[in-house]
Amino acid sequence: MAIELGIDGRQFRNEFSGRKPLLARGAVTGRKFLLEDLEQILYCTEPRTPDFSIHDGQGFVAEKEYTEPFVEMGVARNRLAKIRFYELLRRGATLILNRVEARSTVIKQICCDIGRYASQPVLANGYLCRRDLPSFGLHWDTHDVFAVQLLGRKRWQLYPPTFELPVAGQASRHSSSEALRECEPFLDVTLEERDVLYVPRGWWHCVTGVGTTTFHLSIGVHSPHVRDYIAWLCANVLPARIEFRRTLPMHRSEGEPDADAAFDLIRQAAVALGDVMSSREYFEQYCQRVLDSERLHLPLGLAEEFLESADIGTGATITLSSIYLRDLSKFTHLNGERLPVAGLDADALRALSERGDLSISQLARELNVSIESVNAIVKDLAARGLVFLRS
Ligand SMILES: [Fe+2]
Repeated sequence: MAIELGIDGRQFRNEFSGRKPLLARGAVTGRKFLLEDLEQILYCTEPRTPDFSIHDGQGFVAEKEYTEPFVEMGVARNRLAKIRFYELLRRGATLILNRVEARSTVIKQICCDIGRYASQPVLANGYLCRRDLPSFGLHWDTHDVFAVQLLGRKRWQLYPPTFELPVAGQASRHSSSEALRECEPFLDVTLEERDVLYVPRGWWHCVTGVGTTTFHLSIGVHSPHVRDYIAWLCANVLPARIEFRRTLPMHRSEGEPDADAAFDLIRQAAVALGDVMSSREYFEQYCQRVLDSERLHLPLGLAEEFLESADIGTGATITLSSIYLRDLSKFTHLNGERLPVAGLDADALRALSERGDLSISQLARELNVSIESVNAIVKDLAARGLVFLRS
C-alpha cells in the first residue's frame, strides 16, 4: 500500500500544510486493507492502555469492563472478554489502537509516505467502530491529522479554527463551539475506503461512522514548534552566555535590592536572547540535530537477506530511509548509518534523494548499469538501513 495525494510534497507543504484541509479521493493505492489485517494487529495487541482503549462517547471505558484475567504458563495476563467487548462496539463505542504503526508493517509504510508529504515525524492511531454515531463530538486536535479511511465509511464535518495553532495542553473542551452550530461546515464529506483527508490542527471536526464497520487511521503530525527551538536554545546555547547564568534576586524585604534592579537582569538577558535568536547558525545547528537524530523503525526486509539468490522484483519500489527532504551532500549519516561518499552506492542514494522513489529498472537507467548490478547495490543499501523496499 502507498499514499498518492495527487500533488507533490512541495505543493502540499506550500498550499495546505497548517493552512487548509485537503481531500484526496482514492489516495491509498495498492492492495486493499482487509479485516484480516486488523485481526493480525489485534492478535498482537495487549488489551490495555496505552496501546488499546475503548471510548463510549462519554469517556474511556474501564479495562475491567471488557477484559478478564487469566494465567498463561504461570504468568498473569488479561485477555479480551469477547462478548462484553463486542457488546460495547454494538452499542456505539469506539476501539482506539494507539501507535498502531508499531504493530503493522502495512500501516508503517502508509505513515512513511504521509511523513514525507509533511516532511515531519508522524504517529498513527486506529479507530474502529460499528455504529453511525459521532465518536468524540465536535473537537479540535493539537496536531495536524491525516485521516486515512481503510474499512467502511465515515462522515467528516469540518469548521475553521476559533483558536489558531493550538499546542499540547490546550484542549478544545475549553473552547466554545456554540457559534459553529449556526454555521455551515467548511467541508462536509463522507470518506470512502482509500480516501485521505488532511485536517490542520485547530480545525473543528465531528466524525460519524456511516453504515456498519468502519476503521480509519488518524495519522498525527508531530512537528517541532518555535517554542521547541527556544527550549533547545535554553538547554544547549544559553548556558554559554553569562547573561543567562546570573542569579535572579528574589529578596523582597527592607534594604534589599528592589524588583526593578532585579528586572534589569531580565532586560539584559532579553537583549542577549535577541542576539542568539537572530543567529542563523544556531538555527542550522538545530535543524541538523533534528535530521541527524532521525531513526526509522522499519521492517527488517527478511526476503532481501534470506533469499540471497532471488532478484528484487523489477516492480519493487526503492525508498530512501528518511521522511525529510534533504541535500545528502550536507550529511554524513542517514537513519543512523554512515553514508557512502563515492561510487555507485552514493550515486544511487543521490538519485533517490533527488527523484523520489524509484523502481529497480528506473534506478538501473539512472545509474546506467545492469539490473543485476542494481540488485546488488540495493540489497547492500537495504541491509545497511539506508533504503527500504516495498513490492
Ligand atoms: Fe480529532
